[in-house]
Amino acid sequence: MENLIERAARDLLNSRYAIALTGAGMSTESGIPDFRGPSGIWTKNPEAERKAYRSYETFLHDPRKWWEERLTGPNLLGDLAGAAPNAGHRALVELEKAGILKCVITQNIDGLHEKAGTSKLLEYHGSVLKLRCIHCTLRFRPHEFDLKKLMSEGKLPPRCPYCQGIVKTDTVAFGESIPQDVADMSLEEVWKCDLMLICGTSAVVYPFANLPRIARQSRYEDHWKAEAGLGAVASSPSVKIIEINGEPTPLTAEGISDYIITGKTGEILPQIVEAVKKLKK
Ligand code: APR
Repeated sequence: MENLIERAARDLLNSRYAIALTGAGMSTESGIPDFRGPSGIWTKNPEAERKAYRSYETFLHDPRKWWEERLTGPNLLGDLAGAAPNAGHRALVELEKAGILKCVITQNIDGLHEKAGTSKLLEYHGSVLKLRCIHCTLRFRPHEFDLKKLMSEGKLPPRCPYCQGIVKTDTVAFGESIPQDVADMSLEEVWKCDLMLICGTSAVVYPFANLPRIARQSRYEDHWKAEAGLGAVASSPSVKIIEINGEPTPLTAEGISDYIITGKTGEILPQIVEAVKKLKK
């Protein structure tokens, strides 16, 4: 394990454009359960997952009912408002401040990367800290609408003040497309990166789980075109993909990742940061 930490630190220092892709495993040490880990929400309650798959259908069919359920029912992930970033989130902020990590693309909706201070953040599945117009994708902070008042006056769903589109939570439901702006910016980052840290995700939900494969594929294509004198200039033929996860994933099994450091992101990421500092001396 020790040399894998040092190997990751060296790979990060040798990279030109490192990005991190994160999942629910990043937040379990902040007290927020993941979905498919040994004590995940879907692991413990498969019916809840089946219900989650129907949520967007309900929204499209009856947005007022969807909002009323949202405002009166429990949050599956528990009290997110009170959750705080952990050492793993803070380690990614340190790597960003050191100029090594250029962007975090997260599946997490809990807002913990934002709270930790990550500045270049793409919330691929949205955020509980925001609302979004499903027509023009404009985003709002929840306090910009008096949702309880709208509910008491029978005026749900909230409407976008700019295009009158229906406003829902920014969180992306199963069956809902990834907002185009986030999808496009994420692809940009994946095409630019030459190192990808993949932290705390089972890598089974698409299209997010495709991003590492796209990184691998696009690097190879650029390199091949450059070799064939077809214009694309690949700065390096390869992208280094490093998993940090509690257990192996399909990325591990398919050899998409170069190596996996098995364990807790809240412990491993700070160790990598310390190893980077030592190598920089
Ligand atoms: N450190 C490292 N890995 C961890 C930790 C931890 N502290 N805690 C859990 N893990 C691992 C689990 O073993 C699991 O492999 O993180 C992974 C989390 O996987 P999932 O629960 O499937 O979460 P994620 O990959 O983010 O799910 C993707 O599925 O339900 C949807 O929209 C939801 O964004 C979510 C998406």
